[in-house]
Amino acid sequence: MTVNSLEALDRMHWVHPVANWAGHEKRGVTILKSARGAFITDADGHELIDGFAGLWCVNVGYGHDSIVEVAAAQMRELPYATGYFGFGSEPAIRLATKLAEITPGDLNHIYFSLGGSDAVDSALRLIRYYYNVTGRPAKKQIISLERGYHGSSSTGAGVTALPAFHANFDLPAEGQHYIASPYPYRNPAGSDDAAVIAASVATLRAKVEELGADTVAAFFCEPVQGSGGVVVPPKGWLKAMRDAAAELDILFVADEVITGFGRTGPMFACEAEGVVPDMMSMAKGLTSGYAPLGALAIGEKVYRAIADNAPAGGPIGHGYTYSGHPVSAAVALEVLRLYDEGGILANGQRVGAYFEERLATLADHPLVGEVRARGLLAGVEIVADKVTKEKFSRAAKLSDHLFARGYANGVIFRAFADDIIGLAPPLCCSESEIDLIIARLRQTLDDMLALPEVKAELKLVELA
Ligand SMILES: Cc1ncc(COP(=O)(O)O)c(C=O)c1O
Repeated sequence: MTVNSLEALDRMHWVHPVANWAGHEKRGVTILKSARGAFITDADGHELIDGFAGLWCVNVGYGHDSIVEVAAAQMRELPYATGYFGFGSEPAIRLATKLAEITPGDLNHIYFSLGGSDAVDSALRLIRYYYNVTGRPAKKQIISLERGYHGSSSTGAGVTALPAFHANFDLPAEGQHYIASPYPYRNPAGSDDAAVIAASVATLRAKVEELGADTVAAFFCEPVQGSGGVVVPPKGWLKAMRDAAAELDILFVADEVITGFGRTGPMFACEAEGVVPDMMSMAKGLTSGYAPLGALAIGEKVYRAIADNAPAGGPIGHGYTYSGHPVSAAVALEVLRLYDEGGILANGQRVGAYFEERLATLADHPLVGEVRARGLLAGVEIVADKVTKEKFSRAAKLSDHLFARGYANGVIFRAFADDIIGLAPPLCCSESEIDLIIARLRQTLDDMLALPEVKAELKLVELA
């Protein structure tokens, strides 16, 4: 008997990323079929508005023919060119140049990866190399934030500080350390901006002191924590952490895989605070998901030190077959043109302000503990008790209900396991599309109120 249902074939053969394998076998796949602008249609013909831009990556929106055309033209002319042996291709050279121009300060050297995980992994390998060739081999330890996400490479998953990425993978590895997330909503120092910033800076200093400054290599952070539940730190936090890292003589790596390319307003979140990191990882919005590509921008200090101190003659053994893939590079150049000449970055800034305003209206909902946003990146934290901020029990499976109900109501968002809703609409959205996302989200929250498990645990409070 031949199996020809896609659902059955999926169950048998596709191991999905970050899935519960047995759970996925039971639930089965939801097949997405086509998309245009901010809308996706599934294989059953159900049309949804994509409030999550795929996986916070389709920043320009779906269906741009100009991107398809440059990809096809590049495939016809030169579908592949290696960057090894001194070879290169025009799109990769032009893209490196463009990224050097638009990234902050002296981040002038671009190493190309295929996505975010290997951009972070490249940073980790090159940091090691940097300290070894500059005569400080003891500087090996890495500090990152609790709730941080930095991909799932074997080393990077230990810089990530989410339990599912550690359990049974023997992580964290030696030399991987964490400090508390700024998380204003649940920060023991209180939610006051200055207190949150001071607490983070003090914790970083204390951790470096505890480990010994001459053993610490770098601090990694996302300007807004994404996969850890969209934790938006106060304005000024990033700058304070950058300055502290410089003072402590450790490298500062900004992971802009989500926040890059207009997601929080400016082209890069670092720009908003005048921060120039030593290294910056990016991916996602770089091609808006139309082709796989990531990059690590390296500042002059680290680049020059490696270039000048690496053993003469031999290669620096870090590279991928697809580093600087010409098709992905051509796609990225066209996506960057759309942000700029196509007005998508400016639209994202305008609509981002509107989105923040409209989303804030959900704060009055009985289930909403906090609404937090920076531009078109937002989190809505669901609680059972608005006063104590107590969450629903795991047994209530609220995030599963939220996702399923949202889908039925025609909106896609991320429903994190700890009952935080993640939102990242495409930057091409109009105000009315934002209204549609908010309306469908409110409807979904209202629908939750009818669930017996929600009724049983929700503490209704009289709000002043
Ligand atoms: C901040 C951050 N870094 C790294 C990654 C890993 O990127 P990728 O999934 O492209 O490997 C992600 C993915 O979501 C991310 O959000």
